[in-house]
Amino acid sequence: MINTQIDTRLVGKTILVIDDEKLIRDIVIAYLSEFNMNIVEAESVSDAQASLKNNDVELIISDIAMPGEETGIDLLTWCRKEHIFSPFILISGYLTAEDVRYALSLGVQHVIHKPFKKKQLVDAVFSSFAVSDSYNNLLNNYIEEIELNQQLFMAAIDGFAAAIGARDGYTLQHSEQVSDFAVLLSKKIGLDDKNVQTARIAGKLHDIGKIGVPESILLKSNDLTSAEYNVMKGHPEKAAEILGALPSLSAVIDGAKHHHERYDGFGYPDGLKGEEIPLMGRILAICDAFSAMITERPYRPAMQPELAREEIRVNSATQFDPQLVKVFLSIPEIVSV
Ligand SMILES: [Fe+2]
Repeated sequence: MINTQIDTRLVGKTILVIDDEKLIRDIVIAYLSEFNMNIVEAESVSDAQASLKNNDVELIISDIAMPGEETGIDLLTWCRKEHIFSPFILISGYLTAEDVRYALSLGVQHVIHKPFKKKQLVDAVFSSFAVSDSYNNLLNNYIEEIELNQQLFMAAIDGFAAAIGARDGYTLQHSEQVSDFAVLLSKKIGLDDKNVQTARIAGKLHDIGKIGVPESILLKSNDLTSAEYNVMKGHPEKAAEILGALPSLSAVIDGAKHHHERYDGFGYPDGLKGEEIPLMGRILAICDAFSAMITERPYRPAMQPELAREEIRVNSATQFDPQLVKVFLSIPEIVSV
């Protein structure tokens, strides 16, 4: 007996039926006609592939042996390669145990032997959709949960950045700008999404270690004494200490800890040289310096962007990674700041 509640959920679903024999296609269509689905037919694997490219197919019902070299199993393999994960029902008169095992390993929902009865086909269709729906629900819940966690995570990062900014009124806007520049540069050098996200977070948090610098030094408008400068220079290591509690942020920590290293080895805290400096540190060094130069401070006006770009260029290979400088200065958003 068919559950009428599920019954209505099939209305309007698109099904692709593949069989070289028109008679079999007609039988499948006749058996399913009462459910008001949108049924697309194909008589070969290549026909089916064309249909799958043009239709949003929600269930595939395919014969195995068909004219030409390609079989229903080949179609199934092709679908999974093309990231088409619609439920799949195989119909065949000649199936080896190996075929069945392979088909099941690719997530085929049902294998039906010819000749088949209406109930067998209808049950297989209903259960394929039920499995597919519950899988989709699970997947959607999982994605929602990940998105929510990511939003919470980014809100926490922004909270950290705001905490630094609250002390000197400068760092928040500066960190946001460094983050934007770091995203542009990391995208331009072809980093993947995960590393671009790392650059975004590293930009926001690179100066988090300034939380450990007393306000008498942080807010001082005239030159720092060498003792005060030494305290200030401790902020990258302080950042690594603070962020060290979050081991999953190791690339962010690298960036924050090494954003004041110099390409020639005369920077701090570790005096690393060239490519010894973690990439995120080299990216941030340029973005940090450029943002700092074009921002007005109580003790000096903002530098004209073209002069700041020139300053970055002049310090290529001494302070900054020359390859990154070249790319940075070619970014349209940087050229037009
Ligand atoms: Fe810094």
